[in-house]
Amino acid sequence: MENRSIVSIADYSREKIQSLLDMAAEFEQKPNRKLLEGKVVATLFFEPSTRTRLSFETAANRLGARVIGFSDPKATSSSKGETLKDTIKMVSNYADVIVMRHYLEGAAQYASEVTDVPIINAGDGSNLHPSQTMLDLYSIRKTQGKLDDLNIYMVGDLKYGRTIHSLLMSMRKYNPTFTFIAPKELEMPEEYKLYCKEQGIRYHERQDFDEETLRDCDILYMTRVQRERFSDLMEYERVKDAYILRADMLSKCRPNMKILHPLPRVNEIQYDVDDSPHAYYFQQAQNGLYAREALICDVLGIGIEEIKKA
Ligand code: CP
Repeated sequence: MENRSIVSIADYSREKIQSLLDMAAEFEQKPNRKLLEGKVVATLFFEPSTRTRLSFETAANRLGARVIGFSDPKATSSSKGETLKDTIKMVSNYADVIVMRHYLEGAAQYASEVTDVPIINAGDGSNLHPSQTMLDLYSIRKTQGKLDDLNIYMVGDLKYGRTIHSLLMSMRKYNPTFTFIAPKELEMPEEYKLYCKEQGIRYHERQDFDEETLRDCDILYMTRVQRERFSDLMEYERVKDAYILRADMLSKCRPNMKILHPLPRVNEIQYDVDDSPHAYYFQQAQNGLYAREALICDVLGIGIEEIKKA
């Protein structure tokens, strides 16, 4: 049987991405469609989450599925030493789809290899976060009217930021120009710069971050410096406030420039930015519901024609 897991969307074609985004647009028009009555969606969160878990669970509920799962692995048998393999095999007995966030890079790929039940990667360590990328792409297409030929600025923690890595790879077919702005300690890893070179993706690296820097930006993708990824907290303290966006820095930017952030934010976007027409991060999170409804349908083989009829 074909394994329809979503571990990464880096290899998805333009047609596949367009199809998923069109499905998400259908769900934005009408989120409640009882396509999954009788199905069970399991959400296994080995790492904390607000948006990803709740939006996946809302998506499953709006599609008519039942939801099982956990948000605190300490309350499960993994705290007694049960392996990930055994946990996945057990949950596969109960659920039709498994949405999993795990702290280890590669955990979703591994899970997809030990079960026939589709796995949706809800974030694996600092590796990838494909469902976030789908809602990011949806937000970009919705606000810019296209995905092609955009100037995308990525700011903050480019080393550990899985949303950054996922988005970068998924944009390869859309002729983007990336600008990476990060402290030295958190700059874009060499493997992703190499990926850009191999794929012919233009990128620039800079350290300045002011109103002049942002003049030709279409999408400003801000990220949090992730305290939980640092083994040396002194280093975290040194870099955590390196790049802070303020409302007065937006005076020279393009009229349709939009600020995205996967959230949660800590200190990197000041609250005065929230009232700017450029701020889009809360709507972006809302788009997560529609994108995740589309992804759950996709792994179960439900396409746009069936969605339109429901
Ligand atoms: N963007 C995101 O993954 O948020 P959560 O950690 O709250 O799920």
